[in-house]
Amino acid sequence: MEKTLVIIKPDGIERGLMGEIISRYENKGFKITDCKMIKADREILEKHYAEHREKSFYGELISYMTRGKVLVMIIEGNNVIEIIRKMHGKTNPLDAEMGTIRGDFANSATENVVHASDSKESAEREISIWFS
Ligand code: PPS
Repeated sequence: MEKTLVIIKPDGIERGLMGEIISRYENKGFKITDCKMIKADREILEKHYAEHREKSFYGELISYMTRGKVLVMIIEGNNVIEIIRKMHGKTNPLDAEMGTIRGDFANSATENVVHASDSKESAEREISIWFS
């Protein structure tokens, strides 16, 4: 069974969207097989976002992700990686379609509620970072 790593980001927790978001995954038939709610530190986020270290938005991204708790989950199911990326919608709020989580709940490229692995390799890497 395929696995992915999903994070509900600080704005999702602050705005009380956890239940709504989790229901969408469960209603789609996916299983949450592990989860933890934590205040992530810089060290773990620097590992998680290592590929974006040189991007202009990197500093803003790390400070947003460390400002409050996040819910980190391992989710399993058929084609879960690709389907959850579709359910999340595009990063740019102008491109995120209505009906997706970002399309329905985000209006910013920074505060965009959720993260999910984008490939099998990143899912394995991210699961080992957060659930070592
Ligand atoms: S890229 O440049 O195409 O690789 O970017 P993208 O895949 O769309 O986004 C990578 C992660 O960076 C976050 N991001 C931002 N954060 C802060 N500010 C701005 N402007 C910004 N643009 C992109 C984006 O939400 C992605 O985070 P995750 O957690 O992977 O969804």
